[in-house]
Amino acid sequence: MTLERTFSIVKPDAVERNLIGAIYHRVESAGMRIVAAKMLRLTKEQAEGFYAEHQGKPFFEKLVNFMMSGPIMVQVLEGENAIARYRELMGKTNPEEAACGTLRADYAVNYTFNSVHGSDSPESAAREISYFFAAEELCDR
Ligand code: TYD
Ligand code: MG
Repeated sequence: MTLERTFSIVKPDAVERNLIGAIYHRVESAGMRIVAAKMLRLTKEQAEGFYAEHQGKPFFEKLVNFMMSGPIMVQVLEGENAIARYRELMGKTNPEEAACGTLRADYAVNYTFNSVHGSDSPESAAREISYFFAAEELCDR
């Protein structure tokens, strides 16, 4: 049992369709706490930097343009094994492969417009949390 923090995004397609509350509800119902949150619009530089690991891949430009296309919500989630549990709650990247009842199965439009992001490892979580939040923005309870 390890109390972990993970980084999540409600992507532009989900914000546009008024799904912020539905997604927050699923996170909280799964026993995770939102310990920081804000709405913002990514610049090209922010989107490219956030997804730097995918630079050069065929979907990169489409992904960056999508992530800049409208406001997003960024959150830090806390809970037991939060990194793996939130990945499980999201479902597979391609919604056609995502298990029933996962966020992506229920809400994603397609492979790129897939509604949510979640860190894939402790190293990614640390990098992604600090990419968007200062330490003093995280609220302990
Ligand atoms: P990736 O980090 O592989 O997936 P995840 O979001 O599950 O960690 O890819 C980042 C995003 O890039 C993914 O959420 C959607 C987009 N993407 C595509 O549009 N096409 C693809 O073939 C892949 C692998 C990802
Ligand atoms: Mg990823």
